[in-house]
Amino acid sequence: MGIRSLLLLLTLVVYVSGRKASAWHGHTSPGSTKIAKFTPYYVPPGAKSYDSSSPLLHFSGTWAESWHSAYVQKTLRSTSEPGASMTFTFIGTGIEWFGNMDKKHGSASVYLDGALAQIVSAYSDVAMKQQRIFWAFNLEQGKHTIKIVNAGDGNSKSRGTVTDIDALVVTWGPPPPPRALRKDLAVVPRTMASYSPPLDMSPRQVPGNQWTLVQKGSTGVHAMQLAIISETHALIIDKVEHNPLTISGHPAWAALYNLKTHALQPLSVQSNSFCAGGTFLSNGTLVNVGGNPVVEDHTAAADFGDVDGLQAIRIFEPCESDNVEKCTIYENHGRIRMASPRWYNTVLRISDGSAMIIGGSRKGGWINNGTTNNPTIEYFPPKSIHDSNGLPIHLPFLVDTLNSNLFPIAFSLPDGSVFMAANRDAMVYNWKTNTERRLPRIPNGVRITYPMTGTGLLLPLSPENNYTPEILLCGGSTIDDTKAGYQISSQDPASSQCSRIVLTEAGIAAGWQVEQMPNARTMPDAVLLPTGDIVIVNGAGSGISGYGNVIGQVGESNADNPVLTPVFYDPSAAPGQRFSSAGMPTSNIPRLYHSVATLTPDGDVMIAGSNPNLDRSEVKYGTEYRVEWLGPDYMNRERPQIVGGVPKLLGFGKTAKLQIRLPATVRQGSSVQVALMDLGYITHAVHANSRLVYLVNSLSSDGTALTITGPPDRNIYPPGPGFIYVVADGVPSMGVRLLVGDGSGPEVDESALKNVLEKTEVDQYEQSKDKSNGDGTE
Ligand SMILES: *[C@@H]1O[C@H](CO)[C@@H](O)[C@H](O)[C@H]1NC(C)=O
Ligand SMILES: *[C@@H]1O[C@H](CO)[C@@H](O)[C@H](O)[C@H]1NC(C)=O
Repeated sequence: MGIRSLLLLLTLVVYVSGRKASAWHGHTSPGSTKIAKFTPYYVPPGAKSYDSSSPLLHFSGTWAESWHSAYVQKTLRSTSEPGASMTFTFIGTGIEWFGNMDKKHGSASVYLDGALAQIVSAYSDVAMKQQRIFWAFNLEQGKHTIKIVNAGDGNSKSRGTVTDIDALVVTWGPPPPPRALRKDLAVVPRTMASYSPPLDMSPRQVPGNQWTLVQKGSTGVHAMQLAIISETHALIIDKVEHNPLTISGHPAWAALYNLKTHALQPLSVQSNSFCAGGTFLSNGTLVNVGGNPVVEDHTAAADFGDVDGLQAIRIFEPCESDNVEKCTIYENHGRIRMASPRWYNTVLRISDGSAMIIGGSRKGGWINNGTTNNPTIEYFPPKSIHDSNGLPIHLPFLVDTLNSNLFPIAFSLPDGSVFMAANRDAMVYNWKTNTERRLPRIPNGVRITYPMTGTGLLLPLSPENNYTPEILLCGGSTIDDTKAGYQISSQDPASSQCSRIVLTEAGIAAGWQVEQMPNARTMPDAVLLPTGDIVIVNGAGSGISGYGNVIGQVGESNADNPVLTPVFYDPSAAPGQRFSSAGMPTSNIPRLYHSVATLTPDGDVMIAGSNPNLDRSEVKYGTEYRVEWLGPDYMNRERPQIVGGVPKLLGFGKTAKLQIRLPATVRQGSSVQVALMDLGYITHAVHANSRLVYLVNSLSSDGTALTITGPPDRNIYPPGPGFIYVVADGVPSMGVRLLVGDGSGPEVDESALKNVLEKTEVDQYEQSKDKSNGDGTE
């Protein structure tokens, strides 16, 4: 293919990709419903804007200067001369070009460091100012040159060939990594010799001692919420903000991330999903629930045209193929919505395969209080139980646990009831009888839910432990939750406490068993591995969740002292022998508020996020898009393989015969386990639905066939998606996805559904709020 046809092809690609006439038409802000145009020009704190009038921009050929109050710095340069160019040299990791778009605009060639990067067209049938015409992020940190050359052509509809430049924005990005952490290079693991154990733990050598940490990929939208949706993709959902990834001419706030190629597909979301929760239902459909009001003037000057997300139920139908082009998020509040507004609610799949939606605040804010609290649960699909006819059911626990009780930690228990922890308290909720059984208070004044955020897991269930539930809670804070922001500091220490309770009569009588992590952490993420071990990552050594509230903020972060080294936790070891950081690589990326981590189908841990900011920022602690992959030692060993036989549906108590290949090193008669795992829906350190159930299995005498038996019933594993990992001698295979149960959806109670739509308003908060009152912004 010659240069000419290559250029033509590139031009075509730009045209058909839809940037041409896809201006985002939102509402004017604030409060108005008048249609207006979106102006994407935004300079994140820490980035720098260079106006067209800057002497650092070198123009050659004929350029005219024009003035208008809507231009950046009121000035703009334009040319219609083919070959006229602008050259600008900058130091940074990204560059954005802003200018006008209209019918008179044609195309331009953009060169980066001398190489053609893209041919872009600024043609638009709608006239718009301050549009982002070209952008490149993720450049190597350093000196770069951008050259913009008028191509002298329009498209067939153009009435001209204008190229103009209003402003260039240079993004600096995160601080340069030390050599060992260069992109795509594995961190050299620390050896035992260089590792000095903290005083309060007895280190235990992690088998193999070869954990790796690789930084690769970018999430494009900030990773506030994360769920693995298939063997190849993760779903990432953010709030409305100026992310680099774009859809339909405006920044995206959700994306699908290809775990194998690291490619991104932006997703369109209607309402503000800021601090929503989520779960899969029994039929494999994912629901994303709750959020924040419309973004108005608080998020920079721009208006994204989003709608109120507080009552949103966003439906993401199964998307299992590796081609995700057709996968979308459906939302229609007139037809599907919650009965009440919720921000920071937890969403849990329960034993009938439906979603239990727990608590939250009735509007945005920070620490919850009696005015904002929504001390109820509701279900999706709605249920006619306890005379609710689909409407919210009051939960006294959520009143008694004020103030620090948002994003409750909840797990479905093997008797069908639900464990719930909030603030310093915990209970077991029997949703069938609507009764609470209060558990002993978490010891030593430790609070474990937002904004004193800790994390929690249900420890592995197995036939060997008779599916006895045991809960682990780690981290959080002892800060008094009645204090005002100005009485709290980013330097107030986090808690290092982990607390465990066995949910049997004897276990409850014995109460919480306390142990200490080697480091204090608020906002940690605890990730279950198929081996039954846990790795704890992310978080801060001091401060509190949220941004812009406390004294001693770092940038806008309410927290400081990032904890950069993961901790391994073996729940089955003797107390005092469970924690270790031996051989753990240390990251150089702080992961504070709005960070996430999940096990992947491959068996490593995907770590992303951190954004303690109102909007995208490059000031410490900035908005983090880089992804890290933490590889447990087993990733480097020869691994068992599942080569066939995994059914699409695994019924309760039903058997299936898998074909497997065990490593030659696996001795005859050594243990083979089958881990059925729900990888969970992760946000704000809540790993909703995270679950590991070991399945009854028997290995053929030649070691190539493995008969597995589905979990005994829907209480042990609520029907819905899961991944099967075969674990031999402590080394797991890659995970294969299936649906547990019969694949049917949760029961739809038409009368409850109808009642919710009849008795509740759409977008109540948006309709009722005092216009001068602003929105919630933490
Ligand atoms: C409750 O929280 C909201 C949202 O943060 C805040 O606006 C309000 O002032 C608080 N009310 C009380 C009584 O503290
Ligand atoms: C699963 O059930 C939910 C709730 O009824 C429904 O909205 C969704 O469309 C169903 N998904 C499939 C794949 O049938």
